[in-house]
Amino acid sequence: MGKVYNLAVVPGDFIGKEVVEEEMKVLKIIAEQFGFAFKVTLYPHGGEYYIKTGELLSDSTLAELRGHDAIVFGAVGHPELQKGEVEKGILLKIRFGLDQYINLRPSKLYAGVDAPIRKIHPGLPDDYEITVVREGVGGLYKGIGSYDGVVARQEMNYTNAEVERILRYAYELARDKGQELILGFKSNVLEYVSAQQWQPMFEKMGKKIYPEVLAKYAHIDALNGPMLINSIPQESFVIVTGNMFGDVITDLTASLFGGMGVGASACINPYGTSMFEPIHGSSPKDYGKGTVSPVAAILSGVLMLKNLGEEKAAKKLELSVVNVLKQGKIPDFTINSGVPTKQQTQYIMEEIKKRTQ
Ligand code: IPM
Ligand code: MN
Repeated sequence: MGKVYNLAVVPGDFIGKEVVEEEMKVLKIIAEQFGFAFKVTLYPHGGEYYIKTGELLSDSTLAELRGHDAIVFGAVGHPELQKGEVEKGILLKIRFGLDQYINLRPSKLYAGVDAPIRKIHPGLPDDYEITVVREGVGGLYKGIGSYDGVVARQEMNYTNAEVERILRYAYELARDKGQELILGFKSNVLEYVSAQQWQPMFEKMGKKIYPEVLAKYAHIDALNGPMLINSIPQESFVIVTGNMFGDVITDLTASLFGGMGVGASACINPYGTSMFEPIHGSSPKDYGKGTVSPVAAILSGVLMLKNLGEEKAAKKLELSVVNVLKQGKIPDFTINSGVPTKQQTQYIMEEIKKRTQ
């Protein structure tokens, strides 16, 4: 018997449950093929569970999650909860509590996929990739601020150590991929965080430690609009940015590359427990119809396999998805693709079974 990984599985609400069920099926077969296994502990937490029990995510549950090799996450969010209770009380609690400071969000141009970016930039090759390294636990997300009824303030707060560790990860990723690294921030306005901290730290680290990485700074607004839309680099590249800007730009990159249904993500703590989640939400309106795409969740599973060190299994699973897409079997990732959720998984499983390695 090979290795057994302890997985905490948190499907969450609505379509989170649907896509995680599919992801787990696929992960199970791929593990069997490569001689390892998953021991799954299911956590019912989410908006629905909170409404029923009054529990968001207790400190003891958080401690339990920390004891796992990885966390498979679906999505949380409920129409009866409008104040960010579950977002803050569950999702962000895990990200912060487990110090998942790297929020990795790759977008790839898959052959056979009718991605909007193809219409804007018809010349981009298949497999063209933009990888966003979003800082995952700091900045505006720390929730530091106040409101006295007249003035509200919300602080973008970063320690040097927090900036240093995310920049280092981004440089190493760009170096390993042999790609350009672009820091997206706002030095013309954010005097302290951007002009005095992130940008100089980025430049210094590049010169001193990673001189082989082609690196440059761009204003995040210029990157978001003019660059992605009018003058995109012809070679795949990596973006590193803060938490809030990264939140915004990754909805754009996912949408450009085929929609939220293809956006995978990893919340990584290289020294602790990491979590893998599709970046789409719980989408109550689409729940129960069997039409949402499980691809973003399955691709998050690929990121998990890589993170667990199961490189071969990760490659095989990604290749299986790529082959299905290449054959045009899943033309897009919307609920109107015409290919039911379970059928999409079925195609991917058939592809996995075709080859043993
Ligand atoms: C995301 C989401 C979350 C975020 C919300 C749900 C807290 O938008 O993962 O991108 O802002 O990080
Ligand atoms: Mn978001």
